[in-house]
Amino acid sequence: MGYVIAIAGKGGTGKTTIAALILKVIKDKKLGSLLAVDADPNSNLGEALGQEAKETVGSIINEVAAHPDQIPAGMSKDRFIEYRLQTAIREGDGFDLLTMGRPEGPGCYCYVNNVLRNIVAKLIKEYDYVVIDNEAGLEHFSRRTTGCADTLVVISDYTKVGLRSAKRIKELVDELGVKVKNKLLIINRSSVFIDRQAVKNTGLNYIGEIPEDKSINKINQNGGSLLSLTDKATSLKMLRKIGDVIWQKN
Ligand SMILES: Nc1ncnc2c1ncn2[C@@H]1O[C@H](COP(=O)(O)OP(=O)(O)OP(=O)(O)O)[C@@H](O)[C@H]1O
Ligand SMILES: [Mg+2]
Repeated sequence: MGYVIAIAGKGGTGKTTIAALILKVIKDKKLGSLLAVDADPNSNLGEALGQEAKETVGSIINEVAAHPDQIPAGMSKDRFIEYRLQTAIREGDGFDLLTMGRPEGPGCYCYVNNVLRNIVAKLIKEYDYVVIDNEAGLEHFSRRTTGCADTLVVISDYTKVGLRSAKRIKELVDELGVKVKNKLLIINRSSVFIDRQAVKNTGLNYIGEIPEDKSINKINQNGGSLLSLTDKATSLKMLRKIGDVIWQKN
């Protein structure tokens, strides 16, 4: 059974960046087979990993809807979509990637979410680690796309507003009864001043801060994969130092 690491947080806090860094560390440490799930319809985890997904859950659903004749006789539409997804999971360098993507037209999000939730539930059994990069906000919890996780990593900036939003995530997870063993907090792009009381008030287990990293900015400017960061990168160095609690199975 795969160990599920879900990343959450408010918009722009660095969820995708830290998801990519976590994937890099697990891959470099050779901890086991690895599935990256980009569960953000405005997806860019693939881009951060230098692995543009050709097919996504959204695109496959669109295509099957447009050409239902390709479904083999005796196979249900859902089963066929699942089969197509299994083959579409891109084999990256040391990990596979499943991307949600966008459905076409209004009113399709529910279906895409259902398909994603079901396929992830099945795929969890086939990998040692599953790292899920979620969209900003709280909706993926109420929609149950994040139905359970071994480790939830909430990413926040150092501001009071940011930390309050991290606290709301913790409260919602508890309210909804989402099964999570470790509820962790990382402060990203930290500043000199961090309000320790506000950190404590989140109710999350604070594991440390990731600094603003010039080498990430450089990759941003020039394009490229976060997997190409070297061990000198300050963000990666810090994640290796504080991150064992994220990926260590207990
Ligand atoms: N530690 C860091 N040092 C430098 N730049 C960073 C760092 N963390 C994130 N960034 C940059 O901040 C921006 C937002 O990061 P990212 O896309 O990871 O956030 P996000 O939470 O996934 O955003 P969204 O809510 O839109 O999905 C990106 O340009 C990213 O490269
Ligand atoms: Mg993101």
